[in-house]
Amino acid sequence: MIVLSVESSCDETSVSIIKDGTNVLSNVVLSQIDIHKAFGGVVPEIASREHIKGITYVFEEALMKANINKHDIDLVAVTKGPGLIGSLLVGINGAKAFALSNNIPIIGVHHIAGHIYANAIKETFKFPLVCLVVSGGHTELILMKEHFSFEKLGETLDDAVGEAYDKVARTVGLGYPGGPLVDNLAQQGTPTYDMPDISLGDTYDFSFSGIKSHIINTVHNLAQRKEKLNVENLCASFQKTVTDVLLQKSLKAIEEYDAKMFLVAGGVAANKDLRRKITEQIKQVEVIIPDFSYCTDNAAMIGVAGYYQYQKYTLDESMGLSGKSRVELK
Ligand code: KG4
Ligand code: ZN
Repeated sequence: MIVLSVESSCDETSVSIIKDGTNVLSNVVLSQIDIHKAFGGVVPEIASREHIKGITYVFEEALMKANINKHDIDLVAVTKGPGLIGSLLVGINGAKAFALSNNIPIIGVHHIAGHIYANAIKETFKFPLVCLVVSGGHTELILMKEHFSFEKLGETLDDAVGEAYDKVARTVGLGYPGGPLVDNLAQQGTPTYDMPDISLGDTYDFSFSGIKSHIINTVHNLAQRKEKLNVENLCASFQKTVTDVLLQKSLKAIEEYDAKMFLVAGGVAANKDLRRKITEQIKQVEVIIPDFSYCTDNAAMIGVAGYYQYQKYTLDESMGLSGKSRVELK
């Protein structure tokens, strides 16, 4: 079965072609990062306009690279949300036009289901599994007992972890997106700064707004006292606290739900310390972390998720674009 998938929820315009759920024939990603950098974050109106400029190109390029005829495509899968509405509309309309004109069924896929299923490119899922979702907009621990069943064990009560990374980066004067820049500086530093306790006790919920405010206050207080800030050490302190809490809650969930597999999903899965800690300290189950290229937004993950969603739900149930979808991950 060949799936053509489309992702345009934020600042990446992407089309991918996947064979039989795991074989990525092409995955073309047009990133707008260089354009948004100048503004210190994604500007929604600019993002929509850039998607419009790029969408036809990524369709053509993905088809050419996969070296297949469009009549061989069995299913179109498109990110239906969450995301920036103007950005989503470009991908959804592109996907609808392609599906309608070629008489191919189309389904809407939840963006986070896509991040989770990026892991299925590497390995077959074994249930029950626990997935740590860490992206720019989400921080969640999810329990899956079968394909396309998502039970939320806990989530952030305020900021997402990627959002906190981007804010910390901005506070210490780094560019956008901040996550990789903070991560790189953290590798050169030592965690010498005091950080607040962000464990929230025994729950599976997270909170990152407190540590974010703490970093802002630390930077401002040092500036007022005209004391020098060691940016590397501050990044290392922040990263240690954040990755420790992500690891601890993941370990607890793996144990409590007797998981057979542990997955990491979303842009922050690219974080070096998080990857290292997880591979070093989670030994009791099989651990899967997507390759770097599948951690941040891309259409391949939507194609893989779409493939499994289509196996489980009828087209009507799965459509989602019409608002009828039962496939929700709220
Ligand atoms: O999943 P994603 O591409 O977009 C959303 O769906 O939100 O995640 C983007 C987020 C950004 O906040 C970015 O700063 C963060 O992932 N990120 C990282 C790293 N690489 C990307 N955060 C920490 N360390 C990284 N190496
Ligand atoms: Zn994403």
